[in-house]
Amino acid sequence: MVAPKGIVERIAELRDLIRYHDERYYGHDEPEVSDAEYDDLLNELRGIEAENPELVTEDSPTQRPGAARVPTPFSEVRHLQPMLSLDNAFSRDDLFAWGERIAKLVTEPVTYVGEPKLDGLAVSLLYERGRLVRGATRGNGETGEDVTANVKTIADLPPRLSGSRIPDTLEVRGEVFMSLASFAELNRRQAEHDDRLFANPRNAAAGSLRQIDSSITASRNLSLYCYQPGAMERGPKLTSHHDTLEWLRELGFPVNPHIEDLPDLDAVHDFCERMETDRHSLGYEIDGAVVKVDSLPQRAEMGTTSRAPRWAVAFKFPPEEKTTVLKNIMVSIGRTGRATPFAVLEPVFVGGSTVQMATLHNPDEVARKDVRVGDTVIVRKAGDVIPEVVGPVLAKRKKGARKWKFPTTCPCELGQPLVQLEGEVDRRCVSSDCPMQREQKIIYFAGRGGMDIEGLGEERVRQLVAAGLVQDAADVYTLTHDQLIALERMGEISARNLLDAIETSKAQPLSRVIVALGVRHAGPTAAAALSRAFPDLDAILAASAEALTAVEGVGPVIAESLRAWFTIPTNQALVEKLRAAGVNFIAPVVDTPDAPQTLTGRTFVLTGGLEEYTREQAESAITARGGKVTSSVSKKTSFVLVGENPGSKLAKAEQLGVALLDEAAFVQLLEHGPPDPEE
Ligand code: IVH
Repeated sequence: MVAPKGIVERIAELRDLIRYHDERYYGHDEPEVSDAEYDDLLNELRGIEAENPELVTEDSPTQRPGAARVPTPFSEVRHLQPMLSLDNAFSRDDLFAWGERIAKLVTEPVTYVGEPKLDGLAVSLLYERGRLVRGATRGNGETGEDVTANVKTIADLPPRLSGSRIPDTLEVRGEVFMSLASFAELNRRQAEHDDRLFANPRNAAAGSLRQIDSSITASRNLSLYCYQPGAMERGPKLTSHHDTLEWLRELGFPVNPHIEDLPDLDAVHDFCERMETDRHSLGYEIDGAVVKVDSLPQRAEMGTTSRAPRWAVAFKFPPEEKTTVLKNIMVSIGRTGRATPFAVLEPVFVGGSTVQMATLHNPDEVARKDVRVGDTVIVRKAGDVIPEVVGPVLAKRKKGARKWKFPTTCPCELGQPLVQLEGEVDRRCVSSDCPMQREQKIIYFAGRGGMDIEGLGEERVRQLVAAGLVQDAADVYTLTHDQLIALERMGEISARNLLDAIETSKAQPLSRVIVALGVRHAGPTAAAALSRAFPDLDAILAASAEALTAVEGVGPVIAESLRAWFTIPTNQALVEKLRAAGVNFIAPVVDTPDAPQTLTGRTFVLTGGLEEYTREQAESAITARGGKVTSSVSKKTSFVLVGENPGSKLAKAEQLGVALLDEAAFVQLLEHGPPDPEE
């Protein structure tokens, strides 16, 4: 139980954790926790908020509808017509109930169109006088992200419309997806470069469409099918969905060939069943069928709710389940020592990929499901990232199958006891020497949320640890060219690139260094807050619990975790090694009264939010160095500093060819002044 006085802190902490995991999931397509663990956090927060309604804030993750809003590098665009969702049907009964309900809203009999429900991401494409002017993600339905440069790389997309019936303005909605073949090829390339693998084609498509560098999107071979117009000005008079799709084809849009006209609800149900049977022969993933009323006048009569049209429904396939043999139950050790049981399975193809391991979450979960080694088990992947063992097929259980017992010791070679801390479901290895933890810590250190060292992925870290080249994260900075080149799967160029990436990472901002240390609970939001509140890492590590909790966004759990972390001698030693290696421990410089006047004569415009600076801090850092900050971009502007969610100033700057700075370049500029044009 959380003590009442800790409630405010716990709420802040849960929100922080949820936002962190949102960012991993939505921002990086790289979740760190299972859906179940994520739901636990959200449910705990909902529970506390329900009991303390006065503490609910507008920006709490519990208050947002649908998809999480995460910081995005893309600018926001408002759809001309909102992008709605669909209501779901899961059975024949649901379908008929829907059909009969909407039939009552009109006088004439209803006919339908059935479409495969593509498992990708919805986009809205805006054409003015036949030319593509904007592509946007769905976002929250009202506003999405401007991904124009990226959608333009999709081969199926017509940059210009054809035919004689081109409207002045046309919004077209469709689904961007990745074929199974392109997905397999992408993951093959990722593995070759020791980059992270995508969990499924949908994540891969989403990750590819949200690249800052559109040449990466171009290399990912995305596909598109369009299924619905949005806003339209001066277009043809259309009376049916069938004709609309024909017209979209005439304009040059790719339209799914498996779309069918369906005379009645029996035909609708038959179509849904056929789609389910055929789902694996399409070459891309679908997670259901969408059924739409064909007549547009009827649609208008039926109308929409605020969330979804009444005239359409998504028939969702049940999550795919397969049975396979549970070969073993093993335990993995995470970077914080948490022991997570997982199932080792006879490989089975389910939900679009081969599964040979599945998490069992925690000891309670194994006990609840009572799966035993040798059991035939049901495995499910519901379009989810993480495959799941649903339970055993008891009829097939072998005589003498023993209940699984959680190991009492860590699976690493030191085999220290696993302990269950008070109030926790999990068991942990609390040995600070555990090599499995150590490996995970290094992986995390170099990972995307941490020092972001390209080329130092999971496999590479394992290889370096196995070769005895690194024992802890700081050893990464001692690697030499000769050591690297002697490794397998490491060429001359990769070795040089890796060393460069390692070197560059030393200058990462303090907030990243804090995250990279892997202190439990100290995620990016807390780290950024700490880095704003303290001058350097030493000050943070020396701070009292009171001083830490005084920082907004840092609760007692994070504060205690930080303090406990630093009392451990190996952690202190790690900090010293990182310092000696030259890793940046200093919070970004803001205001030094006697700063060298390196920016005299330079004019800056700021757009979007920065990670390390408030707007005021950035402005005073510029003016302290003799620079000027103005509010609008002109030819005279020297630099536009571009943060997250930049506004229209970015487009203006691009138009005028003004130099753009990201946050890292800005830090460089503050520290070293502008580059000498003579160099
Ligand atoms: S129609 C108002 N048609 O499913 C009509 N959606 O669950 C809204 N989807 O956001 C969409 N295939 O991303 C439509 N043939 C199809 C679809 C489709 C996939 C997605 C789309 C939408 C989601 C709703």
